[in-house]
Amino acid sequence: MSDTIEYIQENRDAYLEELFELLAVPSVSTTGDRLDGCAKLVADVCRRHGLEATLVETVGNPIVYAERIVDESKPTVVFYGHYDVQPPGAEELWDSPPFDPTIRDGSIYARGSGDNKGQFLTHVFATGAVLETEGEPSVNVKLLIEGEEESGSTGLIEYLEDDPSLVADADLVYVADGPAHQSGRPTLIYGNRGILSVEIRLREANTDLHSGNFGGPIPNAAWSMVELLGTMRDSAGGIAIEGFHEDVDIPKRAREMVAKIPVDAAGLKTELDLAELRVDPDRYYESLLLEPTLTINGLESGYTGRGKKTIVPHEATAKLDMRLVPDQSPETVFERVREHVLAHRADADVEIHGTFPPMSTSLDTPFAETVYGALSDVWSAEPVELPLLGGSLPAAYLQRELGTPVLVVPYANPDQGNHSPNEHLDVDWFENGIGTTAMVLKRLGRVDR
Ligand code: BES
Ligand code: MN
Repeated sequence: MSDTIEYIQENRDAYLEELFELLAVPSVSTTGDRLDGCAKLVADVCRRHGLEATLVETVGNPIVYAERIVDESKPTVVFYGHYDVQPPGAEELWDSPPFDPTIRDGSIYARGSGDNKGQFLTHVFATGAVLETEGEPSVNVKLLIEGEEESGSTGLIEYLEDDPSLVADADLVYVADGPAHQSGRPTLIYGNRGILSVEIRLREANTDLHSGNFGGPIPNAAWSMVELLGTMRDSAGGIAIEGFHEDVDIPKRAREMVAKIPVDAAGLKTELDLAELRVDPDRYYESLLLEPTLTINGLESGYTGRGKKTIVPHEATAKLDMRLVPDQSPETVFERVREHVLAHRADADVEIHGTFPPMSTSLDTPFAETVYGALSDVWSAEPVELPLLGGSLPAAYLQRELGTPVLVVPYANPDQGNHSPNEHLDVDWFENGIGTTAMVLKRLGRVDR
């Protein structure tokens, strides 16, 4: 273990420099901007560390494919990640500019530091470190780094469904993404919740109207929307859409695993300055990981500017997302939502805005023990195991099209702040991430598939 770990420690500044070069690229995908330059840079970094890299063109941004083939008879691990990032949001909310990476208090502040540039680069650096200190890794190494994860992974999904020949021999998909468990212990995750995003639009009159001249007899689109949304929840706060839960199927062992996850509800309430949780503390992880949600992401109607404006709004829009659990299908759930909305408002517009199915990997996957061991050795702490992560990834497509287990192993500190202002990746976590992947690359070849 120690030669490679020592090498990684000695090269820390060089790794940070390469990460900073990538973090300085504002590779926001949701605006539809082309990110070819960023993809080329990722491929270049891979080449500097002993991987062969090419760009795979897609309908959207290119996928960076990189490999180090050791021996075709050895197992193959595919590391999945993404080089696109979320929009930074208002610059004044950042203590340093989002695309000018800065280290403060041992942490790298930049958009994409944790989600996901600083995480997928660990695999590149680990491959190079193993090559320098040990010779070839014990497995074939492949990287699939896409440029559209934050906007729906269209190109990746098409690639996987059409002809994923470059990665067809995969035995394991490994994803370093998301923050680790709140306790700060290293974390090993066997799946993710899915997502279904929906937009609902209602229209009443053909224009906004004076609330004195017309208010009373004329319907108000804002109230219509609020009432419609109200029909989707029962009095206990549960989801009241008929058929919504029909395919939910959570295995007993997932529940047992969740029961063992430590919860610090008081700490969380302090951190978020929150008076109450929606559930009892001992149901926190059940609610976060094993149950679907119906979230209002945003509402728009009428006048929300400064001062007042006495109008009856004629239009209202609601954006919703639903986090889905095994075995819900986003398409079926969308049908149930559409039926519900149309039963209340036959003239509503209901539009689907993208989906990822939920994914769960067998808790008995033979590779998990090796990953668990690498995490506990590098962090000198016992890992926390989660059956699912709350957020969503296109991992179900990787699992389905490649027929492999998928393990999610977050290398970011719990307070990473992905998608928020001041997103940051602790340098220690970054370094331990490189070390963990290096250990995995050295040991995974011993696993009996
Ligand atoms: N890194 C996240 C997934 C994630 C979120 C992992 C929280 C762990 C905890 C990923 O980049 C992401 O943001 N996914 C989106 C998908 C959506 C844009 C289709 C999500 O979950 O909202
Ligand atoms: Mn993200």
